[in-house]
Amino acid sequence: MTSQPLPPASPLPGQVVRMFRDRFHTEPAFLVRAPGRVNLIGEHTDYNGGFVLPMAIERAVWIALRPRADELVTVWSLDFHEEQSFSAVAPRHDPSAGWVEYQKGVAWALGAEGVPLRGWEGVVGGDIPIGGGLSSSAALELAAARAFAAVANLDWDPIRMARLARQAENHWVGVSCGIMDQLISAAGRRDHALLIDCRTLAISPVPLPAGAAVVILDTATRRSLESSAYNERRARCEAAARHFGLDSLRDLTREMLEARGAELEPVTRRRARHVVTENARTLEAAEALRAGDATRLGRLMDASHASLRGDFEVSSPELDQMVALARARPECLGARMTGAGFGGCAIALIDAARSREFSAAVDAAYRRASGREPTIDLTRAAPGADLVPLIPPSP
Ligand code: GLA
Repeated sequence: MTSQPLPPASPLPGQVVRMFRDRFHTEPAFLVRAPGRVNLIGEHTDYNGGFVLPMAIERAVWIALRPRADELVTVWSLDFHEEQSFSAVAPRHDPSAGWVEYQKGVAWALGAEGVPLRGWEGVVGGDIPIGGGLSSSAALELAAARAFAAVANLDWDPIRMARLARQAENHWVGVSCGIMDQLISAAGRRDHALLIDCRTLAISPVPLPAGAAVVILDTATRRSLESSAYNERRARCEAAARHFGLDSLRDLTREMLEARGAELEPVTRRRARHVVTENARTLEAAEALRAGDATRLGRLMDASHASLRGDFEVSSPELDQMVALARARPECLGARMTGAGFGGCAIALIDAARSREFSAAVDAAYRRASGREPTIDLTRAAPGADLVPLIPPSP
């Protein structure tokens, strides 16, 4: 296997900077970037205090901005072609405001922790599909957090910022997600996945195997009933933990489940079994990565998909179809759905030297089988939220 070809550089930084110049007739002071993510393995384990193994991806949210003298935040969105403003120190809920609620939520969470807030004006743009399971909302939140940190001249503390962005998502936006998406967007590392212990928030970067590549397979279906089904899964997991007298399923062992699993209702037992086996697979996957063993990682990804489909029941017919088509290719080492499920994206681990054949074949096969237009996207593991050097204006 040879090394992985690089995906093309994003045009977005240039676009947000040009739009900033057009709108504000001056140069931006900062350019911030916060990535989306895929999760290699460790799904529906974060809110159970378990292990996850995500990597940040090249698709990202970008903001070109400059500080203001007052506390107002004014943002123009390239994607929605509209401007929104709010007070950083006294943001007010407006469910009809859409995308800017994520930025307000971050201001609220930072303010509630006593982080000094200053206003700014900027232009935001992103290329993470919305609702596609690649964490566009976490990227929007972390880009806002990076912007607030930049204008107030704060040191960037990725774990703290991820925690606050999650507060924004849970309590301002109203989605009861775990910490994974915000943490990987804040702390991702180039060419590495991060093994995260979601109980302690300890992070161990693990290198991706040379010669293997990760491909994002967007089924072109979007999640429906997602938040109610997600909350229902969480509630079942919490009920199972309580049954065993545990704070979270993180502490449930296979032995305990075998000995007393029959006391649980069958659906709850299967949900708990997914969490127990997925935590074990995630730790084994991190070991496989450390040993450079892409074949073993691929097998664990296959097993994770089977467990998410059968025991946790968060896959969908299109995700199953995409995974089966990817898995049928000789270049593929493993494939699974990624993120919350119910639609969105799968990922495949493949032989990097044959990514073009793989992508073309899966694209054609999925179109034929489903009648939908997939997006097949080779990605590299990207760094977490950061300040990017500004491009000087062209003469
Ligand atoms: C969503 C949530 C995460 C995590 C995954 C499932 O992406 O935001 O916190 O629970 O689903 O692993």
